[in-house]
Amino acid sequence: MIRKCLFPAAGYGTRFLPATKAMPKEMLPIVNKPLIQYAVEEARDAGLQHMALVTGRGKRALEDHFDISYELEHQIRGTEKEKFLAGTRELIETCIFSYTRQVEMKGLGHAILSGRPLIGDEPFAVSLADDLCLNLKGDGVLSQMIQLYKRYRCSIVAIQEVPRDQTHKYGVIAGELIADNVYRVSSMVEKPAPEDAPSNLAIIGRYILTPDIFDLIADTQPGKGGEIQITDALMKQAQNGCVLAYKFDGLRFDCGGAEGYLDATNFCYEHLYLKGL
Ligand code: G1P
Repeated sequence: MIRKCLFPAAGYGTRFLPATKAMPKEMLPIVNKPLIQYAVEEARDAGLQHMALVTGRGKRALEDHFDISYELEHQIRGTEKEKFLAGTRELIETCIFSYTRQVEMKGLGHAILSGRPLIGDEPFAVSLADDLCLNLKGDGVLSQMIQLYKRYRCSIVAIQEVPRDQTHKYGVIAGELIADNVYRVSSMVEKPAPEDAPSNLAIIGRYILTPDIFDLIADTQPGKGGEIQITDALMKQAQNGCVLAYKFDGLRFDCGGAEGYLDATNFCYEHLYLKGL
């Protein structure tokens, strides 16, 4: 079964400069919790225990976050404030964290390939922490995708409908609807102009990947933006076998930019923070 989740987290976060100059974008807080922790909690809630982070230079705060801070914990022990660390502490105790570095920034496909030593030869999930996905009404997005994987046993990408004029920000799929909210992918294009987009179904930063994807990425030439794109490797997988796209239940906030970040903050403040969740 699926045990591991890979978190590509080496990117510079240029859309959020200067905040991300010396701080990883994955550490940006939504109210009082960093984006990476929301993503790790979603993976843990999906039953995944191995959290594999692909980091890079200037990203050490991520490792420190999922480690014990003895001085700080000693300082707040027995006080009101102890409860604020309980969630993080629980993750440290129940999950295994491993790290590797992406030495060169050659795209999301390359970041995933850099994580190969942490994953090995088994199916795994991928989560991009700056896409904050929440489902207050039921299972999280990764849980939903893992249930689907159990049925179909092939790679799956999460998708959402976006306005036509936004397709240039996403990988976009075309496919045949084979079950409720499930498409069998026939085509996939990375960040197409609206006139070239095969649909308005955009890939969101959650994937389930079968391990043959690694060799396919290794054989993938740089594509859009001169980067090695996971979308191109998945397209090859779709041609040789099967890739599914799943329109998930829940909300998604693009926290890599100011507008989505602000929406996420307002939403989480009202629906999670004020309710003590
Ligand atoms: C990446 C993927 C893209 C996907 C997006 C989701 O792009 O390359 O296919 O739609 O994540 O957030 P990025 O946003 O890293 O440029």
